[in-house]
Amino acid sequence: MKKFLFLFFWLPLVTFAQFTDINIIKEIHTKDKGLVVSAHPLASEAGAKIMKMGGNAFDAVIATQYALAVVYPQAGNIGGGGFLVGVKNNGEKFTLDFRETAPERASRDMYLDKNGRANTDLSQNGRLAVGVPGSVAGFFATLKYAKLPMEKLIQPAIDLADNGFALTEKEANLLNSESKNFDEYNRKTTVFQKNLPWKAGDILVQKDLAETLRRIQKSGMKGFYEGETAQLITAEMNRGNGIITLNDLKNYRVAERKPLIFNYKGHEIMSMPLPSSGGILLAQMLTMSGFENIGKYQHNSTAATQIMIEAERRAFADRAEFMGDPSFITDMTEMLISRDYLQNRWKTFNKNSATPSAAVGKITAQQSESTETTHISIIDKEGNAVAVTTTLNGLYGSKVMVSGAGFFLNNEMDDFSVKPGVPNMFGAVGGEANSIQPGKRMLSSMTPTIVLKNSKPYIIVGTPGGTTIPTSVYQSVVNTIDFGLSPNMSVNMPKFHHQWLPESVMVEKGFPETTIADLEKMNYKIERVQQIGRTEMIVIDENGNAVAVADGRGDDSVAAE
Ligand code: GLY
Repeated sequence: MKKFLFLFFWLPLVTFAQFTDINIIKEIHTKDKGLVVSAHPLASEAGAKIMKMGGNAFDAVIATQYALAVVYPQAGNIGGGGFLVGVKNNGEKFTLDFRETAPERASRDMYLDKNGRANTDLSQNGRLAVGVPGSVAGFFATLKYAKLPMEKLIQPAIDLADNGFALTEKEANLLNSESKNFDEYNRKTTVFQKNLPWKAGDILVQKDLAETLRRIQKSGMKGFYEGETAQLITAEMNRGNGIITLNDLKNYRVAERKPLIFNYKGHEIMSMPLPSSGGILLAQMLTMSGFENIGKYQHNSTAATQIMIEAERRAFADRAEFMGDPSFITDMTEMLISRDYLQNRWKTFNKNSATPSAAVGKITAQQSESTETTHISIIDKEGNAVAVTTTLNGLYGSKVMVSGAGFFLNNEMDDFSVKPGVPNMFGAVGGEANSIQPGKRMLSSMTPTIVLKNSKPYIIVGTPGGTTIPTSVYQSVVNTIDFGLSPNMSVNMPKFHHQWLPESVMVEKGFPETTIADLEKMNYKIERVQQIGRTEMIVIDENGNAVAVADGRGDDSVAAE
């Protein structure tokens, strides 16, 4: 426990790191003011600025997402997709599914060679990896809940693209390390490359992207899904093996879905239903660790960690077998989150040793991984709350930039099961439920989540991290509700992750060595990793006092109205 206290004092309440004109703020406490937490200070500020102009949480989330597409191009996007979970101050709860879809010309075996071997290079890199983007349609669908017109909400992003912004050290390093990939997957040198290496403080200007955003500002959805932008996208497809057509773009539709809602210790938890596995996994894991009364153990102790790993194992085995786009499969959600089913699932739990993954699921595989996505949490002073997770999938998605339009396209096709048992870039495997079909949405792990207490938003949380998303959100919720940790500790204490296959358990730098040693004695194979996720969390107490915390693992930052 001493270590935790030390970290609590060490993690500063408010941190300012100066990168030319960029202030990274890690934590803000406030009351009666809107709060935005995102992966980049300028994006959070864009959202806060919109609230100062009279916008609500939904206005702010649109502005923040557009700004992320400019200042955080590795994951913030207009060429990807995502999910939004919202609750209005009148109690109305909703979700928006703006996940990418498989193009009309996609087919089940499109990534298999003539010998039936999966070529995951094609599903992960280059033009054939791209799903039909949903983000811009998602921003327009959000307008229904907002107050201000899109022209105003997109303006901060246009200004950032037009005038440029100062790179942080992390961004500069990332752009330098990705330059070779940009060369490999693009015909022309991109705006993200120059002769000298980028360094912190360099100004990045994106004129083509500014023009694309202006077309959206002027023509609405048609400014992206039809006309010049759509033509630039299809021209990019035709520069290689891409298959997205003008019709695919024109026919893209957002799905409004009923949130997945379940009860946990007197809290109402709302999260994303299929085609994200996130909400189901969260419900399953919380219910299963609840059988062991997880709160009676210490945070990151051997007992608590083992219980949570075993809950993760069983939930992820179900993910592989049962989950996919509900328009194409039989939706088993009700059964999967039912107490009876989970009690039965939990019968094989052994508190003295690891359960072999083969004992709880059917498909075999090996692992690979990557963790690019991004999350935004927002509360406004009227009590509206929104959690959005959005993604290009891999770092800079397919690495293909739409030439002349200035934005990266996703590589979301890899989130399908390209062949039963073949792992995607997160090491996740799947079967028929998540096979490729034209128009189908690929299974996701994104878990934008709002926890309500007495019908009011209590926790707004989410994170990037591929398959580590549901397990990080799970830990953040348990850390807050069961272990009583502060929001700062809930976000920043070392996390762990297990996903059924591979058998190993990832532990983040700084995870307690005594717990690791105990787990190894119980037959757990430990894989040490530098970082898991980048959680953005807002916690509001019953008196309306709010604390927003931006993850310390990156340049993530909070802004207040
Ligand atoms: N592309 C990561 C996810 O949707 O889970």
